[in-house]
Amino acid sequence: MSSDISPQHKEALFLDQKLRPERWEDYIGQSHIKQNLEILLAAAKERAHPPEHLLFYGPPGLGKTTLAHLIAKETQSQMKSTSGPAIEKVGDLASILTNLNPGDILFIDEIHRLNKMVEEVLYPAMESGILDIIIGKGPSARTIQLELPPFTLIAATTRIALLSAPLRSRFSGGVFRLEFYTEAEIEEIVSRSALILGVPLASGAGHEIAMRSRFTPRTANYFLKRARDFAQVSKTSLNELAVKEALRLLEIDEIGLGQPDRHMLTILIEKFGGRPVGLGTIAAATSEEAATIEEVYEPYLLKLGLLERTPRGRIPTKRAYEHLGFDYPEALQEKLL
Ligand code: ADE
Repeated sequence: MSSDISPQHKEALFLDQKLRPERWEDYIGQSHIKQNLEILLAAAKERAHPPEHLLFYGPPGLGKTTLAHLIAKETQSQMKSTSGPAIEKVGDLASILTNLNPGDILFIDEIHRLNKMVEEVLYPAMESGILDIIIGKGPSARTIQLELPPFTLIAATTRIALLSAPLRSRFSGGVFRLEFYTEAEIEEIVSRSALILGVPLASGAGHEIAMRSRFTPRTANYFLKRARDFAQVSKTSLNELAVKEALRLLEIDEIGLGQPDRHMLTILIEKFGGRPVGLGTIAAATSEEAATIEEVYEPYLLKLGLLERTPRGRIPTKRAYEHLGFDYPEALQEKLL
């Protein structure tokens, strides 16, 4: 089957990979993290030692994996990638760790989904480069300790709160939170991506994408690709109007809300009258996974000030009412004043 894939098709399949920056100079934004990493990597290099273990967290699409790739490139190391749910058994982790070469980077995505047994084995491996494994069962069981080659673990998660304190504390190189990008940074990313795709962006088009992209490069690049498709099929240039039309078809509004965001806010307003609602209740009422709400929808709604999180639950703000064209009830106004 793969022999049927044309070079153009292959190129399209790997589009997202092509858009990913491969040099530090091309990585836009997250300047605070970049500065810290540059020092950490330079110091490790001078000492001829692998960098210490690093944890990146934050909403999806902000570039956690990209940072790991850039670090591997910078340190000229091999990177082996896996994910929390893929490491089911202690044996899986043992096999990954014992197959590392000195100086390798091990990237574990979604580390919050690692099971407890595996986590216990990871601690001594991270702390002292030792793999403790139990051989046999019952009275004849014995532990053996294997010395691992020096390595750097880089982990990523969208759910830092789900990580146990002992696991968090083993990231001796640092725990870094990726922030939403600014609109100007996203515009720069979109321009760079358009250049890589070889499509001229008319003035205003990049800005229009940036305004709606949830301050997230992955979303911005996705919108750019869809707007490029739209312009190509409708035989127009990739201008502001093409972006607007493409995003209208995707049901993305002027501030980047999609249908699920609006649905969730509408339910909070119409069904619950703006009273605080717990995450589980919102999940049931919207038929969305609680994790998706927490990881994907909520961070942006909180950032825009459309939603508030209180100890009693989530509340849509006055701005949410206004954006969706609802009157803000007097009763709520008074209560909040
Ligand atoms: N593409 C995706 N994320 C990027 C970033 N931070 N800088 C440049 N291009 C990107």
